[in-house]
Amino acid sequence: MTEAMRENAAIIGRDDLNDLEAIMAVSNTASDETRHDVHSVYDTVFTWDYEKSARPKLDKLYEKAKRAQWNAQTDLPWETDVDQEALVVANAAANGGVLRSLDVSGTPLVSWGDAEWIQFGIESQNWTLSQFMHGEQGALVCTAKIVESVPWIDAKYYASTQVMDEARHVEVFSKYLDDKLSGHYPINAHLRLLLDDIIEDSRWDMTYLGMQIMVEGLALAAFGFMYQMTTEPLLKKMLRYVMSDESRHVAFGVLSLQEHYQDLTAAELRDRQEFAFEAAVRMRDRFLQQEVWDRMGIDPKSVAPVLLQAPEREMFQNILFSKIVPNCKKLGLLDAADGWLRTKFTELGVIGFEDWADTGEEYESMQEVPAEEV
Ligand SMILES: [Fe+2]
Ligand SMILES: [Fe+2]
Repeated sequence: MTEAMRENAAIIGRDDLNDLEAIMAVSNTASDETRHDVHSVYDTVFTWDYEKSARPKLDKLYEKAKRAQWNAQTDLPWETDVDQEALVVANAAANGGVLRSLDVSGTPLVSWGDAEWIQFGIESQNWTLSQFMHGEQGALVCTAKIVESVPWIDAKYYASTQVMDEARHVEVFSKYLDDKLSGHYPINAHLRLLLDDIIEDSRWDMTYLGMQIMVEGLALAAFGFMYQMTTEPLLKKMLRYVMSDESRHVAFGVLSLQEHYQDLTAAELRDRQEFAFEAAVRMRDRFLQQEVWDRMGIDPKSVAPVLLQAPEREMFQNILFSKIVPNCKKLGLLDAADGWLRTKFTELGVIGFEDWADTGEEYESMQEVPAEEV
């Protein structure tokens, strides 16, 4: 066994990143639960240093956030009629019916006709928006924890505005699922493992790394992709509003950790690198949408090998890391500790994004929603 393989087994529970059996063995066995408790021990930190704008960049973000508040109930055109099936049909036509173009011989999908593929498209959208909603609740909880645990007053102020933002995001995704789509999905098991890991860690900066850099970095890319693809005006506007908040949240992570990481040792940085890698793999593992196949009456194991061959799948999966990788680079995480994370992101096939714009720089351009988009 190579050194790299031992490392993978210890960190993500399997040697081979693409071990489908191991990925699909992680499934949600508590999908009926309505409450999920996570035990967490950490210090709640008061500061008696109330000097506002001791960290000018965080102060600027806070002032921006106060001006950028919007109302989920009154600022979006909820009266819009959404024909989910028609949109799925139109979208499949627009993107060439990616999955339908695959060679599915030897799988249960050979018997699928239009009706099954349309239903799959509908379920897939229900699943995706449900995972967005669960992730948003993760952000709500994590950011409330940051208010308590971060030692700087400017960060406590800013994080408090993010708590409000995340409540609004949970609210809009939940309402969109209830009013415009056709069913909820429970949280994906890989995503839940990741959220549990983030919230269980007692170190305040790990909350930031897991949520603001990894989960929100991926969300920002995913929302951007869906924003470009969708032709549904309510969803488009909703995503644009959410993205303007999310870019601020990721920038909050970058600006805070940049300062904190300056004081960490190589061994401490290596811990952060492993955490970032684990989070990246967990987020990648959920792309198989196991729960959608289950609901369609198909054993995910019978179709996963075919799905992995779709040429667009890898491109789509990788583009979701387009914010995470440059932000990790900006934080110095790629090349700390002999470049361990650079090696891992190379294995994952996402190192090519390292020189894309980092969110510490680009968030200002995403702040204002242009008039023509409102
Ligand atoms: Fe959010
Ligand atoms: Fe967020």
